[in-house]
Amino acid sequence: MTQKFFTVAPMMDWTDRHCRAFHRVMSRRARLYTEMVTTGAVIHGPRERLLGFSAVEHPVAVQLGGSDPEDLAQAARICAEFGYDEINLNVGCPSDRVQNGRFGACLMQEPVLVGECVAAMKAAVSLPVTVKCRIGVDDQDTEEALNRLTDCVVAAGCDELTVHARKAWLKGLSPKENRDIPPLDYNRVYRLKQARPDLPIAINGGIKTWDEIREHLKHMDGVMLGRVAYHEPEILLAVDPELHGEEPPVADGFEAVDAYEPYIAAQLAKGERLSNITRHMLGLFTGRPGARAYRRHLATEAVKPGANLQVLREAVAQVSREIVAATPMAALAS
Ligand SMILES: Cc1cc2nc3c(=O)[nH]c(=O)nc-3n(C[C@H](O)[C@H](O)[C@H](O)COP(=O)(O)O)c2cc1C
Repeated sequence: MTQKFFTVAPMMDWTDRHCRAFHRVMSRRARLYTEMVTTGAVIHGPRERLLGFSAVEHPVAVQLGGSDPEDLAQAARICAEFGYDEINLNVGCPSDRVQNGRFGACLMQEPVLVGECVAAMKAAVSLPVTVKCRIGVDDQDTEEALNRLTDCVVAAGCDELTVHARKAWLKGLSPKENRDIPPLDYNRVYRLKQARPDLPIAINGGIKTWDEIREHLKHMDGVMLGRVAYHEPEILLAVDPELHGEEPPVADGFEAVDAYEPYIAAQLAKGERLSNITRHMLGLFTGRPGARAYRRHLATEAVKPGANLQVLREAVAQVSREIVAATPMAALAS
């Protein structure tokens, strides 16, 4: 049996380097994704700011947005030099900005071009090249659209596919609505896996609990979590025990904060603002008495000039250490 895997979704404005370093504290094994970076930004932009990351984040994949094979090859090469473990192509983002650039979800309509993009990146780097897509867009037939895309990327050497199990509607819905309104169709993704037993495929979209993750993994090789991983990061504590039979690196949210402190201290010493780091920690302690006071303290104090680790410690001191039934870890144990 192949090893099942767990990934945290690429999320613009959310999964920046601080967020990924924080998530890494709770799982050694989860694969982490950057926010999408466009090929233009990688090639012409401030690379260290856009692509820089800490060694602690491995394994970490960079997600590229683009549709020009040569640009993607060049961007992939640059990302490989930065030390990323995987190059992922975005074929799922529906924002207008992205559609004008002819990449993201609208590429579901151009499977041959996506294949050319994958082939160009494969030729440029020796890293795994993967694709994240939808099951279709607009009035596409999802059987045909997803099969066609898969055929094209597999022929080009794609190493793994993640499928967000809903269509994107390119006209009329905002990107946020496109993450909720088009109905989920997990069975479509299961059928793809049955038809493609040799291709590692992960399922994504609307997955909220470990019961659901276990169910999906009966059908799929991997699961990708987005919003729930961000808003309830303690769910990551179960990745190493559940999928790898290993102890989690820390026991709970309190230990996670302790383990993350040296990273925060190093970033503050470089001039980073505390709130840029702690904004990704607001979902910690969900379900525990005091979680709201924790969030409020961080929201008001971490933004102040000169805010330091003391602010975080004061926030954590508001939270009850009793085991509470509503926390993700307690739910897991039951
Ligand atoms: C704030 C936010 C930003 C996102 N940015 C990206 C992105 O840059 N690239 C991408 O492929 N998907 C992006 N997504 C979509 C997620 O990767 C994921 O496919 C989607 O949220 C569904 O998974 P979930 O229900 O587990 O959150 C974003 C989602 C959110 C909430």
